[in-house]
Amino acid sequence: MRKMKLEKALTLIEPGPLLLVTTFDGRKNNIMTISWSMPLDFDGRFALCTGPWNYSFGALRKTKECVLCIPGPTLLKTAVQIGTVSGKEVDKFQKFQLKALPAQFVKAPLLAGCTACIECVVERFLETYGIFILKAVCVWKDSSCSDKRLVHAVGDGTFRADGEVFNFKRLMKEKLPPGL
Ligand SMILES: Cc1cc2nc3c(=O)[nH]c(=O)nc-3n(C[C@H](O)[C@H](O)[C@H](O)COP(=O)(O)O)c2cc1C
Repeated sequence: MRKMKLEKALTLIEPGPLLLVTTFDGRKNNIMTISWSMPLDFDGRFALCTGPWNYSFGALRKTKECVLCIPGPTLLKTAVQIGTVSGKEVDKFQKFQLKALPAQFVKAPLLAGCTACIECVVERFLETYGIFILKAVCVWKDSSCSDKRLVHAVGDGTFRADGEVFNFKRLMKEKLPPGL
């Protein structure tokens, strides 16, 4: 083994998958790109890491609602563009010709074209690290998407799409809750 630069460490732990997070601040829909997320339990809890320099942060704090939208490779370039401009200055739904679909339990919209969307409410905010703890309240999937691969951000501006699937369901039987 050879030593690597410390700042490269995060590129070794691939977060997954790239998310588009929609919010509604009471005036307009907004959307941001998030690669730093993780599941927390089997009951639909997730953590997102973001901060007050993003416009979405204010909406998340105020409304305590959002939708996690999961784009496939066809939406990747748009997802990167969404993550390089702020809803403070532009209407990203208009600029990137995004189609908002009504959610059932939250005011933030689902994003058409994504393989799945998860309506969430904010349960807690951990200020020290800008971590939002979310609880899923409704999950949608779009089976008509032609390319359902998940996209992962490596962290250095490059991305990977899912490849081969290895099925170890039987070996993991004791560890998985019913229904998975
Ligand atoms: C690939 C990619 C991943 C990103 N991941 C995160 C993230 O995990 N957390 C975060 O706060 N910002 C992340 N960003 C940056 C935000 O998406 C960006 O600051 C965006 O403009 C915020 O939009 P808003 O100001 O409308 O909320 C990412 C951007 C890109 C392009």
